[in-house]
Amino acid sequence: MKMHVNGIEMYYEAHGSGEPVLFVHGFPLSGRLWEQVVEPLQDSYRLIIPDLRGLGRSEVSAEGSMGLFADDLAALLDALEERRPVVVVGLSMGGYIALEFYRRQGGRVRALVLADTQAQAYTPEAARDREELARQVEKEGSIVAADWLIDKLFGPKASRELRDTWWQIMSSSAPVGVVAALRAMIGRADSRPTLASISVPTLVVVGEHDAITPLDDAQTMHRGIVGSRLEVIPGAGHMTPVEQPERFVRVLGDFLDSLGGSGRR
Ligand code: MLT
Repeated sequence: MKMHVNGIEMYYEAHGSGEPVLFVHGFPLSGRLWEQVVEPLQDSYRLIIPDLRGLGRSEVSAEGSMGLFADDLAALLDALEERRPVVVVGLSMGGYIALEFYRRQGGRVRALVLADTQAQAYTPEAARDREELARQVEKEGSIVAADWLIDKLFGPKASRELRDTWWQIMSSSAPVGVVAALRAMIGRADSRPTLASISVPTLVVVGEHDAITPLDDAQTMHRGIVGSRLEVIPGAGHMTPVEQPERFVRVLGDFLDSLGGSGRR
């Protein structure tokens, strides 16, 4: 479905009913990242799954910042008349956005799930690599970003088919949106000072072989967020919900159920 939100046509899916859970995908992916959580969780939760501006099936947008992405999500919740506090689940760039959403909309956050992500901003070297990539995407299209990422995203067990599917999704992203998201990630704030202020239940998840945001990054968040839970997903790289969907759903479902509310029957 599409909805006019914060000046763009935003694609989103909403499934099920119960306590609301908002899923925020990474770069330069789409809401398809969460396809396999829908069936097992929709009987107990209202799952809201957008494609971020400029990416996936949402309108192409040359604008991007963590603040704008976070504001889009708040506007989407408003448009869906979802006024209850939501569980925000963000993977990688989705985690950077979830932390920004928490800073801006803390009262709307019931709990956080920070999957395969990091609190710190890029090192100067990582920022330079992303800026170089943005320039190449401007010249040659999104295929360059897909090629750059594909070997970093998956653990050693990922099938050829899975890699091909995601290469296809990434390479068909609109270049303008890919560049805007890259520059948004480059310009993001260091979220480490935010960690100590997080007072909602938080689950930190990381794939055992995550090469983009490895276990160390997950441990930094886990140590910084009082009372948080850390789960390592064996056999997965950076794309835990599609590499080890059953394990990911089990870990996420247990966390959601632990919050009380509707829970799974
Ligand atoms: C992502 O998966 O969202 C990106 O790879 C994150 C990043 O490059 O920092």
